[in-house]
Amino acid sequence: SRVPVGIVGAGPAGLFLSLLLRREGIESVVLDSRSRAEIEGTIRAGVLEHWTADLIRDLGLNGRMDRLAHRHGGVTLQFCGERHHLNFRELTDGKEVTVYPQHEVLIDLLAALDAEGGQVIFGVQDVAMHDLRTDRPRLTFRRAPDAEPEELLCEYVAGCDGFHGPGRQAIPVTERREYTKVYPFGWLGVLVEAPPSYHELIYANHERGFALLSTRTPEIQRMYVQCGPHDPLGEWPDDRVWEELHRRLDVPGSCVTEGRIFQKNIVPLRSFVSEPMRYGRLFLAGDAAHIVPPTGAKGLNLAVGDVVLLSHLMIRAMRHGDRDALDTYSARALRRVWRAERFSWSMTRMLHRDPTGSAFEGRIHLAELDYLVHSEAASRSLAENYVGFPVEL
Ligand code: FAD
Ligand code: DHB
Repeated sequence: SRVPVGIVGAGPAGLFLSLLLRREGIESVVLDSRSRAEIEGTIRAGVLEHWTADLIRDLGLNGRMDRLAHRHGGVTLQFCGERHHLNFRELTDGKEVTVYPQHEVLIDLLAALDAEGGQVIFGVQDVAMHDLRTDRPRLTFRRAPDAEPEELLCEYVAGCDGFHGPGRQAIPVTERREYTKVYPFGWLGVLVEAPPSYHELIYANHERGFALLSTRTPEIQRMYVQCGPHDPLGEWPDDRVWEELHRRLDVPGSCVTEGRIFQKNIVPLRSFVSEPMRYGRLFLAGDAAHIVPPTGAKGLNLAVGDVVLLSHLMIRAMRHGDRDALDTYSARALRRVWRAERFSWSMTRMLHRDPTGSAFEGRIHLAELDYLVHSEAASRSLAENYVGFPVEL
């Protein structure tokens, strides 16, 4: 069968792309190897930049977000046992962030695509991309292990298939360049049945390592502690998690409230960019092309930024006959990507304890934090990066 745009991956990048195109009358088919239940249940990112929440409202997807999300007009940085509030609304002319988890956004996107006749095929196997350098690229896949292979003839293919998907690998290694930084630490994340411990997010630099206090609902909280990148979960029984959270986050008069831990996972931290983000008629978006460490809360937002630009350029190419529009995609997307890579790397470096680093570097991180919270120029810089830059179209 034929479809103008074939999309691999039903994460934030693939689903926003499909809906943005559909609203302009352009059909697409989204293929994902996971089931709908898995996609709607996987716990990942939690923070939406100002413009991302605006986009969700502009698309009319905000019903559940308005009920379930929390708007935060700032964050708290904690170091040397003291907390410092950064007021984003004051520093950025009224901007804020929205704490609304990624899987809730995906639930809202899938509901909208269902209601508007979008096509998402879950649980597919053996997805492969062909003829990408021709003007008739193809996707092949199977709906089940023993099913016949099917073929989708496309005008354009979008690789929105995350870090491990086939999209980036479809570009010959001689045609791309990878930039990687692997950090010597990871994050242990827990979901906890407890009331909020504080009224906003706390990012803590502590000599025992980084910790982050976040939230989900009035009854469920999200917390992270720096751990080894390859620590087995078995090394982190609940009482060790609580001990580290208390030591790194508690201050006189304000302690982390404990509760039942019902989800626990470890992610290693890395920075990664693959250039360019285009190969013939294949366009990469989101984690397929780049990874940021989670400290700046940028991963989901970057994926959405890519497809806001990509959908705009595809619409110009297909609806307005501007065939060269898509030639600008890679360079324009990468400019935003590197800005977020720099911010995520600098937040990560400043807030974590590097077990391979020197005591000198540890002191520099504290000097950086001290400068940040006492200089309006530096506070403003952090705030404008954290609330995020809208896509320039
Ligand atoms: P994804 O969300 O990864 O979506 C890709 C989709 O492609 C998936 O649904 C996958 O099933 C599908 N796919 C993959 N391979 C194939 C194939 N062969 N065939 C068909 N479909 C395929 N960011 C933060 O800011 N804060 C966090 O706390 C945070 N935590 C994270 C925890 C984890 C475990 C991970 C993996 C990421 C986390 N991130 C976090 C990053 C953030 O979630 C991602 O940046 C975001 O999901 C990127 O969206 P995406 O659409 O590009 O890719
Ligand atoms: C959350 C995740 C992040 O990576 C971050 O920087 C802030 C909050 C969260 O899951 O709530």
